[in-house]
Amino acid sequence: MHASIAVLPGDGIGPEVIREAIACLGQVARTHGHEFAFTSLPVGGYALDAYGVPLPPATLEACLASDAVLLGAVGDPRHDRQPAHLKPETGLLALRKGLGVYANLRPALLHPALASSSPLKEEVVRGTDLVVVRELAGGLYFGEPRSLDQDRGVNTLPYTRFEVERIARRAFDLARLRRRKVTSVDKANVLESSQLWRRVVNEVAADYPDVALDHLYVDACAMALVLRPSSFDVILTDNLFGDILSDEASVLTGSLGMLPSASLGGQVGLYEPVHGSAPDLAGRDLANPIGAIGSAAMLLRHSLGLEKEAAALEAAIFAVLAQGFGTADLACQPARVGTRGMGEAIRQSFSRVAMEVSA
Ligand code: IPM
Ligand code: MG
Repeated sequence: MHASIAVLPGDGIGPEVIREAIACLGQVARTHGHEFAFTSLPVGGYALDAYGVPLPPATLEACLASDAVLLGAVGDPRHDRQPAHLKPETGLLALRKGLGVYANLRPALLHPALASSSPLKEEVVRGTDLVVVRELAGGLYFGEPRSLDQDRGVNTLPYTRFEVERIARRAFDLARLRRRKVTSVDKANVLESSQLWRRVVNEVAADYPDVALDHLYVDACAMALVLRPSSFDVILTDNLFGDILSDEASVLTGSLGMLPSASLGGQVGLYEPVHGSAPDLAGRDLANPIGAIGSAAMLLRHSLGLEKEAAALEAAIFAVLAQGFGTADLACQPARVGTRGMGEAIRQSFSRVAMEVSA
């Protein structure tokens, strides 16, 4: 197949991890007879420096005209003290909004070889395999009114029935492909918006009698994630809680650098590692590219419908971890490699598997 992929490397370690992900996609294309055309576009601090805005209109247009968008990371401490419209992060939020993606899938899967990299005891973390389904287009991130002056800062947390229903359906549909369990996370003991959330999730659940549903308050969920992470299957939650809980879930699997994500439900899918721009690691060949490469695998699956290729790339990641390869963020790994070395090892493993399959 032919596909055009918009690539937004962004800031910090973004370009380094994206370079490895693109090289992996190139190899998938060569091995399986596809043609992927990559177009690199500015976003975040990089775009602010070059064009004065965090999301140039031409970047959004090119993304909307592509088959999928692959993004590295945005965020640059040099821009931290700027007003909101001049922050790199605003570019990412505008991109999500502009693409219309409202369903953010963040799978956290513990590879057995990384159990001792987890900050939790091995027996607690073993078997962890969950997905955070984060509502991405509404809630506190976008609610109006919002304002900031000298003495008062205001944000608003609205949710409508429509918004909750569509993300809830995504979570239940996903649970049907997994272990058929949804945990909806809210703060319904305090927030009206959470009370609506809970009511609508219960209504949607009636259409999925084969899926088990439970509800947790977000504080209890934060605790349960470190007490019994392997008991979760699909965690359904709002924009802010999903942001927080997905960082927590990610380190359980060894490192924030491991987690991929897909943002779906709009015109074009957006794929990005969950980690940030990590300015302290940038340009040093230290960053873990697995989150970015895993995001490329999700792109193959969700935007291009290439399930076999996606699974093969994920298998290649698993294989190198099993062989003991690891970047500096993975505490237990004996075979220390850099960003490039990890990407190269995954590509070699991918070719090996492809050769075995065709032999
Ligand atoms: C994430 C990030 C973003 C978010 C930031 C960079 C705006 O933390 O994707 O989790 O809060 O959504
Ligand atoms: Mg985050």
